[in-house]
Amino acid sequence: MNTAISLGTLRLKNPVLVASGTFGYAEEFKNLIKVERLGALVTKTITLCPRQGNLPPRIAETPSGMLNSIGLENKGLDNFIKEKLPHLKKLDTPIVVSIAGESLNEYAELAKKLSLKGISALELNLSCPNIKAAKIKNQRGTLISQDASATYKVIKAVRRSTKKTIIAKLTPNVGDISLIARAAEDAGADSISLVNTFLAMSIDIKSKKPKLANITGGLSGPAIKPIALRMVWEVARAVKIPVVGCGGIMTASDAIEFIIAGARAVQIGTANFVNPKAATDIILGIKDYMRINKITNINKLIGSLKV
Ligand SMILES: Cc1cc2nc3c(=O)[nH]c(=O)nc-3n(C[C@H](O)[C@H](O)[C@H](O)COP(=O)(O)O)c2cc1C
Repeated sequence: MNTAISLGTLRLKNPVLVASGTFGYAEEFKNLIKVERLGALVTKTITLCPRQGNLPPRIAETPSGMLNSIGLENKGLDNFIKEKLPHLKKLDTPIVVSIAGESLNEYAELAKKLSLKGISALELNLSCPNIKAAKIKNQRGTLISQDASATYKVIKAVRRSTKKTIIAKLTPNVGDISLIARAAEDAGADSISLVNTFLAMSIDIKSKKPKLANITGGLSGPAIKPIALRMVWEVARAVKIPVVGCGGIMTASDAIEFIIAGARAVQIGTANFVNPKAATDIILGIKDYMRINKITNINKLIGSLKV
């Protein structure tokens, strides 16, 4: 049975990745799951300079999902290269480093400095809803991937700075996701991942205060799955580069839905908090489905939606 897929020059033994920000830098998980079984591991987003993130509370549970407003807390690029990368390199699984800049030049600089051995690809986080708009905005004051021309410019700048596979991670908080995806493809992205979280909020009616100190945050988990699935289906029809589907995938059957809709790979996020073995369970479940349905090559399942 062949479960191998490729994203740009990156070849993965199976199509299941863990999503940025939900698997740390693997330290917490490496004794809980067999990390080498993952298709690839996407790190928590790193930025050029250290970031403290937003004030707590920055997590709230919602029906069938969760809100987070972490705000890209991380210790910055230099610390990542010195403290995290050596450990990550020892893991027998491809490492995708997620990066976010506060300007076009920062994205390019991060990409250049991360053109290091042991890093298989870069995922550009063009879509974190938790950084104040003033910090990471284009001329219209929105997130980068809410604007096709800003998306194009950032990816083009990164493309010039690195030969690594570029995965552009998009926000679902837009009207026409295909427009943004096409801009990413035109600028030279090798793959598109979607979705990041949906901008959302929750209120404690006793105190009348928002449940998150940041007031708003990003919604993830099963609640967003049908919307994410629709967006992945739309984008897979709009671009030629591979799409990585993400959003509310908790089980193998969820993952298979995304693959049938056109995703070449999937990322597992919130499910890791519920079950640290979620991603490896999903890999086994996909293999079972292939066996039962006599599918010898996963690539035959991709985009096999019957309409
Ligand atoms: C606590 C938390 C932190 C996250 N941090 C990041 C991040 O640093 N970078 C990023 O690109 N996405 C981040 N995400 C978004 C996830 O990678 C994923 O796109 C999103 O949660 C949807 O997938 P899910 O429903 O499977 O969780 C985070 C999500 C959660 C829940």
